[in-house]
Amino acid sequence: MENLLNGIWKYRYGAPEQHTPLLYREKAISHEPLQRLHCEGVAPFSDEQIIAKETARGITVELPLKSEEHIYGFGLQLHRVDHTGRKKVLRVNSDPVADTGDSHAPVPFYVSTAGYGVYVDTSRYATFYCGTNLRKGDSEHKKLENKEVGTSEIELYGYQVSEGDRTVVIDIPAARGIDIYFFEGPDLTAAVQRYNLFSGGGCLPPLWGLGMWYRAYSAASKEDVTRLAHTFPNDQMPVDVFGFEPGWQSRAYSCSFVWDNNRFPEHESMLGELYDLNYRVNLWEHVFVHPSSPIYEGLKEFSGDYEVWEGLVPDLAEPESKTIFSEHHLKEFAAKGISGFKLDECDSSDFVHSSWSFPDTTEFPSGMDGEQMHNQLGTLYQSAILAPYETLGVRTLSQVRSSGALASPYPFVLYSDLYDHKVFIRGVVNCGFSGLLWSPEVRQAESAEDLIRRIQTTVFSPMALLNCWRIPNPPWMQVDREKNINGEFLDNYEQIRDICRSLFEIRMSLIPYLYTAYARYHYEGRPPFRALVMDYPNDPNVYEIDDAYMMGDYMLVAPMVEGETERSVYLPVGTWHCFWTNETYAGSQHYCVSPGLERIPVFVKDGTLLPLAQPLQHVADDAVFDISFRSFGDNATTCMLYEDDGKTYEFREGCYNWVQVTALSEGNYEINRTGNYTGQRYSFNKD
Ligand code: GAL
Repeated sequence: MENLLNGIWKYRYGAPEQHTPLLYREKAISHEPLQRLHCEGVAPFSDEQIIAKETARGITVELPLKSEEHIYGFGLQLHRVDHTGRKKVLRVNSDPVADTGDSHAPVPFYVSTAGYGVYVDTSRYATFYCGTNLRKGDSEHKKLENKEVGTSEIELYGYQVSEGDRTVVIDIPAARGIDIYFFEGPDLTAAVQRYNLFSGGGCLPPLWGLGMWYRAYSAASKEDVTRLAHTFPNDQMPVDVFGFEPGWQSRAYSCSFVWDNNRFPEHESMLGELYDLNYRVNLWEHVFVHPSSPIYEGLKEFSGDYEVWEGLVPDLAEPESKTIFSEHHLKEFAAKGISGFKLDECDSSDFVHSSWSFPDTTEFPSGMDGEQMHNQLGTLYQSAILAPYETLGVRTLSQVRSSGALASPYPFVLYSDLYDHKVFIRGVVNCGFSGLLWSPEVRQAESAEDLIRRIQTTVFSPMALLNCWRIPNPPWMQVDREKNINGEFLDNYEQIRDICRSLFEIRMSLIPYLYTAYARYHYEGRPPFRALVMDYPNDPNVYEIDDAYMMGDYMLVAPMVEGETERSVYLPVGTWHCFWTNETYAGSQHYCVSPGLERIPVFVKDGTLLPLAQPLQHVADDAVFDISFRSFGDNATTCMLYEDDGKTYEFREGCYNWVQVTALSEGNYEINRTGNYTGQRYSFNKD
């Protein structure tokens, strides 16, 4: 066990593989903030406590797990929060329909309530048996127990190992050695922070990325796009990002990466019009390269030996391949003002109608095999798409359907086709354990109620996204897909639109608060969205909560789904206030809340001076947020906000401010800016 850095330990067994996530890391370790985190300097385990061996199937590692420990993480797990007692196979998959470990973003990293984290540096489909089995002989002491045999199901099949200490058994196929990194606490959040800082720190999105996103119908033409783009401001619906789905390209599935001149003649003038209306434009694509694409010939030599959807699978681990791919995106799109991309299908499908994607046996010129490439493709793809923005010196916030280890620096947000609302809420709870961001996107809906509940969740999530790729008209006009396509609108759509607008406006008013939470992600590794167990690791009441989460440091969000008129919310220790009514709630208790359809249960910690901006229609490059404060409790005296230019990378050179606001008396504040950013993104409403 080697002490690598402050609170980070490395354990090596055998000869590790060459192609692991660490080889392809995006950013260097964030040393300075790591130094600032307090640590005891004691590794979570000693060498003697770790059992590692090589077998014919690969490497097996066994780590201690105390009976009282609970473990979390493993990437974007959509079906469970607490993985203790479960088996997880970390295999990338586009349809993670069951609690098997399959995920859009599997990450071989877990954290424990005992206050440490474990990262296994592998791209293999590693399996983690999280305390599922006791070792041979461990139960022998029970032979003299004179216990009556129970016959109920719980007694017969009951939890076999709940009574004692156990282990986590890790199976890493094909490997001949492994590097494992251990992250000290003292608590679970500190272990996650260390992991994120080890990855290079969290991403800092551009300010506009925190506004509302709207992706238009796949078959939309230039006229449809222009009509929608004017409808939003006319209806005063805030929308920052306008997304194009597959129809913008001359070939999709696989991709040409070229505009379709028939559907979008003179697309540059259309883009100019969108930019003039202050929209950012995001383009859908996937990584598979169609033979008609201008980059096909150049990439052929640097691709895997199987096609997907008749296209090449570029080996983005090869520098030549990455350069060809990135330069095309720079020249044709990023340099022409496209603000980002939606990187689809970089996960792999095994369970749906067609088993698309390449076999695990695929050989890539870099030396990676198909299995390794599957688990690594999402991050390699993000890296290739991020490169043009780094070159231009402007930030992006983009979407991706697959990610993996050490991914916190990527300004990309995950999404899925699963569309079960509860599953989507669980995604928000879980993403923060593993350096990931997740969007519980809204498409069409079962009913107006379903639409409003889903919009509430997305507005209180890492990315507020409406993905209307299957409907030509906004969902508030018609939730039913067929009717939406046929132009049959709801009688009361204006009323539904008004409810949606007020939710969009809440999102816009929370941007400064959220931006500050993202800044802490970047500078301190602290995730902006967190499961309650991250903030309250000593409270067993929160260990299994998978339907409520922290947004930033002061807000607890407990979304509701269609059909619920009330729900139970557990408020941890302390005093809380309803976001809407300011009503006071004592913590360490469950409450049954019924806020009505137009409100999502949100609670604010006592003592919070919450900054709320006047909602803007768009976050333009020169936007200034006009901020007022709401006090929750009698001791709400200070608030800290982060500020920079919101769009370039100058913050890396220290060009940012921390703005400390102190309430002096009712409506009277003292503002103190420290830092080197000379502009001002916030103006403070002192009345
Ligand atoms: C799916 C993706 C959807 C949409 C669609 C377009 O794979 O998840 O959001 O983009 O492709 O064909």
